[in-house]
Parts: sequence; structure tokens; C-alpha cells
Amino acid sequence: MDSLKAKISEVIKKLYGVEVPVEFAPVPAEIEGDYSCNVAMRLAKAAGKAPRDIAAEIIAELPTDYEYTVAGPGFINIAVSGKALAGQLSAAWTDDYGYNQSGAGKTAVSEFPSTNMAKPYSVGHLRPGTQGWAAKRILEANGWKVITDNHLGDAGTPFGIWATGFKRSGKSIDEVTIYDLGEIYIQMKADMKAEEAAGEHALADSAQDWLLKLEAGDAEATELSERFNKISLDHIHGVMKRMNLSTDYELGESFFVERGKALVQKYLDEGVFVKNEDGSVICPLDEFGIEVPMLVLKSNGAALYATTDLGCLDYRLHEWKADRLIYAVGAEQKFYFEQLFAVAKKLGWNAEMQHVWFGTIDQVGPDGKREKMSSRKGVVLLEAMLDDAEKRVRENFAEAELADEDVRRIATGAIKYSDFIADRKTGILYDPDKIFALTGQSGPFCQYACVRMRRILEKNADFAGADFGDYDFAAEKGVLQKLLEFPALVAGVAENLEAHRIAGYCFELAQEMNRYYENAPISTAEPATKAARLWLVARAATVLERGLDLLGIEIPEKM
Ligand code: ARG
Repeated sequence: MDSLKAKISEVIKKLYGVEVPVEFAPVPAEIEGDYSCNVAMRLAKAAGKAPRDIAAEIIAELPTDYEYTVAGPGFINIAVSGKALAGQLSAAWTDDYGYNQSGAGKTAVSEFPSTNMAKPYSVGHLRPGTQGWAAKRILEANGWKVITDNHLGDAGTPFGIWATGFKRSGKSIDEVTIYDLGEIYIQMKADMKAEEAAGEHALADSAQDWLLKLEAGDAEATELSERFNKISLDHIHGVMKRMNLSTDYELGESFFVERGKALVQKYLDEGVFVKNEDGSVICPLDEFGIEVPMLVLKSNGAALYATTDLGCLDYRLHEWKADRLIYAVGAEQKFYFEQLFAVAKKLGWNAEMQHVWFGTIDQVGPDGKREKMSSRKGVVLLEAMLDDAEKRVRENFAEAELADEDVRRIATGAIKYSDFIADRKTGILYDPDKIFALTGQSGPFCQYACVRMRRILEKNADFAGADFGDYDFAAEKGVLQKLLEFPALVAGVAENLEAHRIAGYCFELAQEMNRYYENAPISTAEPATKAARLWLVARAATVLERGLDLLGIEIPEKM
């Protein structure tokens, strides 16, 4: 339809010498035609003619793949024949249908899930993973080269807190688990809060000491940090594997400490950054309308989160030569990234920097009200969520006797899809009754549509490539229209990374297929019809799988 829109614009330019936006609206079922276009009414004034006459003049110049009628005050109604649509799809179809090369030659960095050491992987880092992965796949589908990096939280205060708490616990480093580390951390945070309220600071001082020791290369601090990093990493990798997520790099915060500090010194020397009386360093951002300067170095000279991010940004832009930086991080850090990107601009670092932010994961609380997801123990571990999801999938699909790998695919597919149901800027509601259901807008619903298509194609493999005579594709119009929308959709989400539009599309296509089977039986159709219908199913299967793949959703073998 895009080419028809372009053609109408061209005709208008030729006939009336003006440019007007050309949009099509779907027409209700009871009216003849598929789309309606109101340009003739918009042109009436400029052309000094009645809209119905203008409509007729435009129609006279349009290609004959469609049927046109002038309706009401001057609408151009457009009816598309199934055959014309099938011809369009067939002409547009290539091995990489849906993908484009608009980003060719450009490099983006997508950062996710950026979990923190010493803390078990919680549902708090679910969305960074799913959204960051979708950003990667969407950009790749648009021809970009994408480098992925897990910006591990392995520097800064957490290490000091953990080291202090670990020493106090009397545990041996050989027996400590990620869950112990997580508990030690939570306990320490609580104790430090109490200590602060009491006007004391022994724990805080100790944590600070450990940090400085680590930065100074002290042997015990280094050993502790390495050991606990390994425990954390083994755990993080295990969870990522279940989620089918991976990154090319894992350059954690600590990797950028020296680079960040050197930059702070450089821009301090150049007078861009300012040293406070207490020795801390800031970057004023007034010229960007940001009143709060960014703190880039602590008063004791230690690196901050922002120091390492500065080093990291520099590294991604200048070592990786990235044209675009994507940070899949929650909405809480919005202001932080506004500041960080402003600092980069101030330093003259030019690249597209995008904070792909999102809301929290909510649950329905015991009182029936929506609340941030939590458990009796506090945070919900992603492993626990995955275990629960797999249990539900085994129950829901008990008859299918699923292989473990398929259970994992369906469970993660359900969880991931729920992340994309609405605009990422809103929170998501984790409602297990809906997420794992085979009906309604869910991951399993879309996955099932793929499995069903695959099965139909396998059963009729001998029909592939058979002649479909002069089949009219009348029953296929809805599916064909949907399939023709896919390339523009993929191109359209590259800018704002609105993965939910892909998710919505997959659901609509799956629904369209279900409607289609009802009107157009395949197994009982005569050979030419059957061949034509299988041709369509094969294309729909490819498009739906590609759409789900952009969201990181895998297709089970059976379900
Ligand atoms: N580890 C951080 C957190 O859990 C997220 C890191 C975000 N990325 C960054 N480059 N600052 O909050």
C-alpha cells in the first residue's frame, strides 16, 4: 500500500502542484472497498474544484491493480484484490523479507542486562535483558552492526559493603553462595542505615576502606573481589542462559575506573569540570537546562558510578566507533542518563545516545491492588520466577508431554512477551493467569500459531512449490495485508525501539491466521488451492517467527 500512497502523492503533485499527506483508513466491513483516502477533500480549496471531481481525476491516473470508487463527499475508496496482494507479496519476497539495510555501515552498542555483582539476579533486571536484546535484534534487522555489552555492576560501594559484611559473617569464601552474598548485602544495608541514624559510621568507614584497598590493588581485596565476581558471574550466566540472552562483552564498571578518572583529570585541567572545596569534581550542565551538575569524582578521589560511565561512554564511542549507544535501564535512572548524555555533549562527543527506559514489574497484591513485584523475602529472584513459570507451563500443557527445552522456551516466551504487551514506558503487570494462557494476547498464543503453521507445512511438504493455477486469494486478503505491513513495521521501530509494536503485530498476525483457517480449509482443498494456501502459510510462518525473534522469543518444537 505504501507504493500506492506514493503514487497518489505523485499524481496530486502533477495535477495540482501541491504536496499533501496521503493516509489510508480501513473501511468498515459493510462498505465496499478495503481502504479509504480523504485527500480530495483536503485539495478542494487549493484546486478550486468539487472534491468528487478531484477524486475522479486522481483515480483516472492510478494503477489498475486496485479498484476505486468515489464515495460520499469525495472519498476515494480502494478495493484491493487478493490476487493483486499476493502478487505484491510475491514480488517483495526475498530470503530476508522484512529486514532492511538502512543501518548498513553503522555500529550501535546495546547494553544489557547490567546486573550487579554480589546480588542474586532479581526480576529487577528482567526488563533490561528483554528490552536490550530486542533493541539489538531490531537494529540488526535494520542492517546495523550491534555490539552487546553487559555493564556489570562490579565497582563502587557494593564491593566495600559486601567485603565488610563477608568478613563479619565469619563464612569461608569456599562455601559462600550467591544467595549468602545477597543476604549479607541486604543485612549490611540495614545495619548501615541503623548506624547512620545513630550517628555512627564504623561500617560505612570499613566499606569505604575496602573500596580504596581494591582500587589500590591490595592483595586481599583483589582476591575477595575476584572470588566473589566468579560466584556472581557463574550465577548471572546461568540465568542468562535460561533466558537465552548473551552479550559479546562483559566490561563491567571496574574496567572503566582508570579511564574515567583520567578523563576527569583531563577535563579538570581543561577547565570544563570544576573541583569543589571538598575535593569532589563536578560537571556543570546549566547550558543544557540541567541545574544539578553531575558529580564525576568523590571527594576522597574514588571513582563513582558516573566516573566509570564516562570512561565507558568514551570507550564505546572511540574504541568501538559506535554511532549509537543504547542503554536498557529502568526509569529510575532517567535523570542520571540525561545528565550523562549532557556531559558527553558538553565534551563534544557526538553520537545518538538513547536511554531505553521502562517501568517496573508489578503484581496484584493480596488486597487486589497493583504493587511493585516482591515476595515475603523481599526481591523476587529471576530464577524463582523462571521456576514458577516452568511449573505453570508443565501444568498448562500436561497433555503435550513437552521436552524440557520446550518448557523453557514457552516459559521464557510467556515472560518475555508480557514485557512487550504495552509501551515499555508503562509498568508491566505480572499476571500469571494471563501470561501463560493459550488464549488472549500472550507469548504462548503467538508461539502456538507458529507451531501450528510448522505442523501444517510439515504434513504437506510434498506440496511445496506446486502450481496454484489462477487461484484468486480472496480468503487470504486479511493475512496478505498483514504480511505486507511487516517490512515497514520493522523499519518504523528502529528509531524509538518500540518493541511493543512488534508484539502487537505478532498477536494480530496470529489471530488473522486463526480466522483464516476457519474460512479456508487446507487439508481438504483441491490441489491448486491447497498449493496456494500452503504458499501463504509458509510466508506467514516465516514472518511470525521473525517477529517473535526480534523480541527474543523462541519457538518450541511442539506444544
Ligand atoms: N548495574 C546498574 C543497575 O543495576 C545498571 C547499569 C546501567 N548502565 C550504565 N551504563 N550505567 O542499576
